[in-house]
Amino acid sequence: MRVRKAVIPVAGLGTRFLPYTKAIPKEMLPIIDLPAIHFIVQEAIDSGIESILFITSKEKYSIEDYFDRNFYLEYFLNKNKNYAALNELKRIPENVNIFSVRQKEAMGLGHAILHAADFIGAEPFAVFLPDDLIFSKVPVMKKMIEIYGKLGRGVVAVEKVEKAKISSYGIIKPKPAGSRIYDILDMAEKPALKDAFSNLGIVGRYVLPSKIFDYIRETKAGAKGEIQLTDALKAMMRNEGLCAHEFEGVRCDTGDKFEYILAILKYASMQKGLKQKLKKAIKKIF
Ligand code: UTP
Repeated sequence: MRVRKAVIPVAGLGTRFLPYTKAIPKEMLPIIDLPAIHFIVQEAIDSGIESILFITSKEKYSIEDYFDRNFYLEYFLNKNKNYAALNELKRIPENVNIFSVRQKEAMGLGHAILHAADFIGAEPFAVFLPDDLIFSKVPVMKKMIEIYGKLGRGVVAVEKVEKAKISSYGIIKPKPAGSRIYDILDMAEKPALKDAFSNLGIVGRYVLPSKIFDYIRETKAGAKGEIQLTDALKAMMRNEGLCAHEFEGVRCDTGDKFEYILAILKYASMQKGLKQKLKKAIKKIF
């Protein structure tokens, strides 16, 4: 079955970016002139996704507003013949259906994803964690959907994680199963370095069969009262199998202050004629 739908959970509290995130969703942090979420939605569209469900919460309406038309603004720009500004608005993708549902309480990623069960029905679907901005030639999700099509099992994105960060990731026990593809034999959430199966950490892209909802429903809340997606994935891995794709590209965790700066620099370096200028300017600053 074709993967047509995507789920993007944006209901987290964004505590790492306080006080900014007290009033503005971290998904709306600017990567120069585009909000971070713009890149995620574009990746979804470029991967063949037709409908997106945001799992959202109070104070996050600016995300939906961004992808909606603003007739008042368009009317005035037209009236003033400001066609350059009107053209900028056209950069916002429109060729996708956007839906949203509210998660009333931030009870974990698994709990958030469960809100998509009715929307997804019996189809396989994509999940994008919007903090993970990935710059790549081929959209990572497009490749993952292809792998799902070939293997018929859930696919998670992984990348090699540096030692100091292993205990911040879900780490997989991999068995090579093709070019940049692994079967996952086991996985551990945030293990100590000495207990880690490998240095391959799970990042925010998943293609999942709808069966995952049954596994989430069976997952008990952890110590902090949160229902974790990793626990459900682990149960699914045991019964149905699960594989990993080691993607090619540069990932920046825009929910982290340092990597957010890197995302801006990476995007800036991709603009025509800006790379050398940027390198010089940075040398000057430091
Ligand atoms: P994070 O663990 O990064 O949490 O969530 P967070 O609240 O967004 O950010 P910090 O760590 O406090 O700064 C991973 C993803 O899951 C979503 C978040 O929006 C983010 O995209 N999420 C998490 C939910 O939608 N609901 C939840 O209950 C928890």
